[in-house]
Amino acid sequence: MKATDLLKKQHKEVKSLFKKIEKTENGRARRQLLDEIATALHGHTVIEEEMFYPAVRGLETQKAEEMVLEAFEEHHVVKLVLAELPKVNTEDDRFEAKMTVLSELVEHHADEEEKEMFKLAQKLGKDELESLGEQMQERFEAVRSQSRQAA
Ligand SMILES: [Fe+2]
Ligand SMILES: [Fe+2]
Repeated sequence: MKATDLLKKQHKEVKSLFKKIEKTENGRARRQLLDEIATALHGHTVIEEEMFYPAVRGLETQKAEEMVLEAFEEHHVVKLVLAELPKVNTEDDRFEAKMTVLSELVEHHADEEEKEMFKLAQKLGKDELESLGEQMQERFEAVRSQSRQAA
């Protein structure tokens, strides 16, 4: 699968997890969904930061450089909000508010990646995107099993 298609697929999966958690009232179920969201986002940001963004940067255009820098900053904000969530009571109204903010951040970021960065990334060519996609899939699985062990 092309790297850009893999990332789009993961965006969809995370968005659907956010929809699910929005409809979930039970504290324990919320916590479990939150863990799933955190694991999915962690793996996704690792493969983007370690593999996909450097490839985009390799296109060596000013636009690519600006988009990558902005994306790193957005990941940073997402990580800050995620780090606070384990401390918030899932039965609390603040939990819902924080989840809404997180979901909006992620959605905005993912949409921008898809509309701008992934479009530009097509310049890497189909073969390059395919092989990058395979490597990213492998790395994603490895990161995910690491986070499962840690939990
Ligand atoms: Fe991203
Ligand atoms: Fe992404």
